[in-house]
Amino acid sequence: MLTAYDATFAALADAAGVDCLLVGDSLGMVCQGHGSTVGVSLEAMRYHTDSVARGLRRVQGSAWLIADLPFGSYQESREQALRSATVLMQAGAQMVKLEGGGWTVDTVRFLTERGIPVCAHLGFTPQTVHALGGYRVQGRDDGSAARLREDARALEEAGAALLVLEMVPAALARALSAERPRCATIGIGAGSGTAGQVLVMHDMLGIHLGRPPKFVQDFMAQAQGIEGALRAYVQAVKAGRFPDDTLHAW
Ligand code: KIV
Ligand code: NA
Repeated sequence: MLTAYDATFAALADAAGVDCLLVGDSLGMVCQGHGSTVGVSLEAMRYHTDSVARGLRRVQGSAWLIADLPFGSYQESREQALRSATVLMQAGAQMVKLEGGGWTVDTVRFLTERGIPVCAHLGFTPQTVHALGGYRVQGRDDGSAARLREDARALEEAGAALLVLEMVPAALARALSAERPRCATIGIGAGSGTAGQVLVMHDMLGIHLGRPPKFVQDFMAQAQGIEGALRAYVQAVKAGRFPDDTLHAW
């Protein structure tokens, strides 16, 4: 999986063999220049989802298209989540992603029962960066690791078909992935033990302002061009060469 925010990059990633594209609310940072994802609106998500979906249609793409429900578009009620998910599905998303455990389980069940595929997101959850006290690895102590495993169990039971695990120790992500065979785990800064991997496309192309996070690899460094870098990422993930737990994980 990679993020995509526009038609051209979506089509290129699809052609390179990326299985899933995520219209991430990371577009708040990558496209809009904000410091976090908190300010991203549902309308912005709809606009970028529409663009990415059109790019995939242009090339008859086969990548599975996931869109983030942004901050404030699903926290109020299950009904609000359904209305927001409808906007993204009508723009071309095939699945929506929302962050967190606990109260979200009820929302995930409400959406999946109504035919909306859901990707969950645990560990470091960027929309709640201010509540978490900054960009930190999650699930390091026994209590928070147990909570994470319980959230994953409940989300799987509620019908989540995918689970992004962000910035959690590799051993925890590996154990959790083995426990949850019906809900495929997608790691970012979670080591090599997850079913799949995701990165922000700009990060893996070496395009970022400031220092990239430790879990990122610049696939442009060894590639001839963007298409080569995208193919190298797909091959490295599928062959289990990325991430390298000694370099990119905790
Ligand atoms: O918004 C995003 O880019 C994400 C992924 C990095 C998982 O949520
Ligand atoms: Na996101």
